[in-house]
Amino acid sequence: WVSMVTARTPTNIAVIKYWGKRDETLILPINDSISVTLDPNHLCTTTTVSVSPSFDQDRMWLNGKEISLQGGRFQSCLREIRARAQDVEDEKKGIKIKKEDWQNLHLHIASYNNFPTAAGLASSAAGLACLVFSLAKLMNLKEDNSQLSAIARQGSGSACRSLYGGFVKWIMGKEDNGSDSLAVQLADEKHWDELVIIIAVVSARQKETSSTSGMRDTVETSALIQHRAKEVVPKRIIQMEDAIQKRDFPSFARLACTDSNQFHAVCLDTYPPIFYMNDTSHRQDNQLCREMESCRRNTSDNVQVAYTFDAGPNAVMIARNRKTAALLLQRLLYNFPPQSDTDLDSYIIGDKSI
Ligand code: DP6
Repeated sequence: WVSMVTARTPTNIAVIKYWGKRDETLILPINDSISVTLDPNHLCTTTTVSVSPSFDQDRMWLNGKEISLQGGRFQSCLREIRARAQDVEDEKKGIKIKKEDWQNLHLHIASYNNFPTAAGLASSAAGLACLVFSLAKLMNLKEDNSQLSAIARQGSGSACRSLYGGFVKWIMGKEDNGSDSLAVQLADEKHWDELVIIIAVVSARQKETSSTSGMRDTVETSALIQHRAKEVVPKRIIQMEDAIQKRDFPSFARLACTDSNQFHAVCLDTYPPIFYMNDTSHRQDNQLCREMESCRRNTSDNVQVAYTFDAGPNAVMIARNRKTAALLLQRLLYNFPPQSDTDLDSYIIGDKSI
């Protein structure tokens, strides 16, 4: 017999960023963060996990290619899930697994990303969240999504926020063992469903500095990062929660843009400096700032667009509604026409809600 589960998990985009760890093994952050989860039809990972007595080792394929499972992070997630596994019984299929059997049974895992892996589009977030969720279903875990988020966190920090749709907060927690460092849903996918997220894929190439090593260097060398984590982010988290709750777009946009700016500022303050944005990204955020400024002047603080850049050059734009998104796309295509000899490959348009 073979027992199988398939799950699909969208990626999430942080509007108040996670950058810096207080514990590298357990993946415990130095500040809270807030993200918005995308619609699962757009940027997502689909994972099928299966178990059978005939499998002689754990194996995994990513986008059709077999990959190694030796990584410590994957093994931590697997260990945590196996430790919580329950009995599974399906009479029709002749499946009867006792919880202690899970220690000796082997898994086959096949995962697909429908977007570029490791190009700063948070592929690890969707991937690890999907892996943890599908394994939890396969092994019949009783834990809720918040408890599962604390396991996904040990695979990749940002993954813990992809266990929920809508707006999600990763609470940094205080405990040394990480038991209180988990994700909670601030508002579900229907709460503010007119927002539209547009991702300009400036480059789908693999990023040069991984988030993991980048944030390690920042914590070790940046003089600004402690100020950000202790003084700036705690206030922004409160303000962002309030903006989301009230669907206050001007405040939401200001907080998202300034937090992205500060994240890239601490990257520049790192030694050696980390440059995630390229010239096209800077031209785009310049252009967006001008658009936002003219909106503000003409329509009394009626900001229509927010931007945020993660650990890569791709601009993530959040439009207030579909009408604004259509206008924004038109202007972007006019100002940044995709040309075969430039690095602007394509635009992806996605609704926010899950
Ligand atoms: C810039 O979650 O990829 O996207 O925990 O080391 O796996 P690790 O890092 P990762 O970092 C994401 C950083 C970010 C900001 C964010 O998503 O909050």
